[in-house]
Amino acid sequence: MIRRHFWNDQAGLGQGCPESLEKVIPVAARRQARTVIGGWSGYQPTELRSLGAIAEQLELGAVFYKDEESRFEISSFKALGGAYAVQCLLRDVFEEVTGRSVTLEDVERNHHPDLAADVTVVTATDGNHGRSVAWGAERFGCGCVIHMHEQVSLGRQAAVEAFGATVRRVPGNYDDSVRAAARDAALNGWFVVSDTSWPGYEDIPRSVMAGYTVMSSEAMEQWPLDAPPTHVFLQGGCGGMAAAIGIDLWSRSGEDRPRIVIVEPEPAACLYESATAGELRMVDITTETVMAGLSCGEVSLVAWPVIAAAVDDFLTIGDESIGPLMRRLARESSIVAGESAVAGLAGLMAAAADSDVARRLGLSAESRVLLFGTEGATDPEVYRRLVD
Ligand SMILES: Cc1ncc(COP(=O)(O)O)c(C=O)c1O
Repeated sequence: MIRRHFWNDQAGLGQGCPESLEKVIPVAARRQARTVIGGWSGYQPTELRSLGAIAEQLELGAVFYKDEESRFEISSFKALGGAYAVQCLLRDVFEEVTGRSVTLEDVERNHHPDLAADVTVVTATDGNHGRSVAWGAERFGCGCVIHMHEQVSLGRQAAVEAFGATVRRVPGNYDDSVRAAARDAALNGWFVVSDTSWPGYEDIPRSVMAGYTVMSSEAMEQWPLDAPPTHVFLQGGCGGMAAAIGIDLWSRSGEDRPRIVIVEPEPAACLYESATAGELRMVDITTETVMAGLSCGEVSLVAWPVIAAAVDDFLTIGDESIGPLMRRLARESSIVAGESAVAGLAGLMAAAADSDVARRLGLSAESRVLLFGTEGATDPEVYRRLVD
């Protein structure tokens, strides 16, 4: 069921992508991310899968699901962001220390092991981003400390520790852990590699977002229909992913861009609240949603202008459809989808079932919907509990 819907009539549907938005992640940065990540060992594009039975049930033209379950060892699209930002950061640090030009390839090939060993990266996570940063730190040879709030599962902690990172538990929610990571970095001379941004801290989150666009660039290359997608449903945490994919799709498709719809869990709907207020708003998270990766109460500063200008609709949903949808994808399509992966699909199904919302969103038999299944079973125990 859709809890709340906000239609953003300020978004430029049917218009070209404004230059000011293109600059948030310039095309050169997106291309570089594609080239560099495409060169990582083990790189394979993830599959774009047709959800034919769901399209038929909802009386839509087509529904495609970009399945991030097989994304490197991380099993989520986050592998593209945090680890890539660690690589970019190390390149910058090495250049500063040596006074010489250093390439991203030098970092990938561990050409400066002693310099790397002197660097420690730190971030907050509710699971996936920290895992990506820890994986990147291990690959590129630097130290890593990850802050997790008290509700993050032990399974997610173990997944981060498996890459050699130290985990620090922090009281409170995700936003408290973001502040704790920044404080610890300042105290210890560590480098914050965050997926969210705040005043004065924007460059690294931009690298993270540039990495995410690898997912949309693959999806558009794989898109099998003659006509482009009409709608894209994106699940929102701090908004970094939705902004990255939104810019990439708008910049590629111009005035033919799809309608961009954000779906958030009701207790953590900071993007919805900010969009309706027309300015940044925080949500104090008091109830944790099952969609752990989306439990975020503060919008990323870098993402916000894109969210405000490019996102046509904001939907909030409850947890009730998440387990059943994960089960349905597993049984019907052999797709292993984690709790946060199915949020976009849950939003689509709830919107299609609500005649008012469906009409406002223009959902019809002509609609061709693109979804991003952003994670697999990133916590196998939680997955089993919800699916079995
Ligand atoms: C699986 C998954 N999907 C979507 C998101 C949302 O990304 P963002 O916080 O950039 O909005 C996250 C964030 O952690 C996630 O883990």
